[in-house]
Amino acid sequence: MDTSAHGGRKFVDKRVDPSDARAVPYVLPEGAVRDRRNRDHIKGLRSGPVASGALLPAIVGSGRLAGERPTDCDRHPGVGTSVGPTKPRASAVFPLDANPEARALVSDPIDPSRPIPPAEQPARLAALEAAVRARTDIVPEVGIVLGSGLGGLADDVEVPMAIPFADLPGWPAATAPGHVGRLLLGRLAGKNVVMLQGRFHVYEGNDPGLVVQPVLLFRRLGARIVVLTNAAGGVDPAFGPGTLMVIRDHLNLTGRTPLLGPNADEIGPRFQDLTDAWNPRLRDGLLAAGRAEGVDLEQGVYAGLLGPQYETPSEVLMLRTLGADAVGMSTVLECIAARWCGLDVCGVSLVTNAGAGYSGEPLTHEEVLAAGAEAGPRLAKVIRRFVADLA
Ligand code: HPA
Repeated sequence: MDTSAHGGRKFVDKRVDPSDARAVPYVLPEGAVRDRRNRDHIKGLRSGPVASGALLPAIVGSGRLAGERPTDCDRHPGVGTSVGPTKPRASAVFPLDANPEARALVSDPIDPSRPIPPAEQPARLAALEAAVRARTDIVPEVGIVLGSGLGGLADDVEVPMAIPFADLPGWPAATAPGHVGRLLLGRLAGKNVVMLQGRFHVYEGNDPGLVVQPVLLFRRLGARIVVLTNAAGGVDPAFGPGTLMVIRDHLNLTGRTPLLGPNADEIGPRFQDLTDAWNPRLRDGLLAAGRAEGVDLEQGVYAGLLGPQYETPSEVLMLRTLGADAVGMSTVLECIAARWCGLDVCGVSLVTNAGAGYSGEPLTHEEVLAAGAEAGPRLAKVIRRFVADLA
């Protein structure tokens, strides 16, 4: 590794990968460089055109608001062959009716931008849990969040119970293109799983507290592990479209946190530690799954930004300088909340495009979805194997 050529300040960051016996040297700030390949690439950019440029008891119910008719959550074509229990039982007590505290928290119509401090999560999660438990008894071991264009893994879930987001208390329908927007419970590779097909983003106008509710719900339903996936832009110039990157660490550049406001000590601590937030043992498990399936996996740091606009080329260079290898508009808040509620976290970014400025072409959501469709099956293979091999 070339650490001398730039006159940059050298420091050793011992925190980035504590599982490594070796510390990871960085050179700052003379360019976004950690090795010669990246330095050369960035030099090229500089001289080119880019440079200018409560809790509820377990109550049965549908989870709808008082006065609303129960909706049939279980007929969703394309989600496997069979479905879980059908209509809510006639004697159903609606969870929000039975819990005035939770009822008072959920506006009608739902305002997804309304701040949800941590202290409100227990009552909301109780209502969500009750709505799920009215439909299925499955206790998941693993939760999986499927990002843009990666929803195909949901087709592999056996005996799925599919619940559209909008059928769950306090959840709006998903709006992001490429996001189906439903919660699935079923079996994958011999394990009980809960899956989020699509997710909530802050750029849709959702409060961070809503964005992270799915992972908090995973924990509440029994999961111990969460696998977060996303589509991302390549910030490491070597990470072209189709690269799969196991997330080693993240940079939360959203300026948001789901932990703002009064805490819910029964869920997690006020001051959440994020050392090893991306669990080294699970990362190794993902890498082993990749080897077993003959799928190449890189490792790197994911930078989470608010979006929804893509980055400028200069922002991509900045992210490289900060130590990022990929950039996207999700995942980091979910990781924070998952650690807060005690989930072990791992994840994979599917690089759908080179970061802005690298190719000289404009970025489009269509190319993101197309690359997701192309590489999604490879990622699905890795996750299936990872789940199968979990102890
Ligand atoms: N930037 C941010 N988010 C993304 C990108 C990108 O280049 N590609 C896919 N999601």
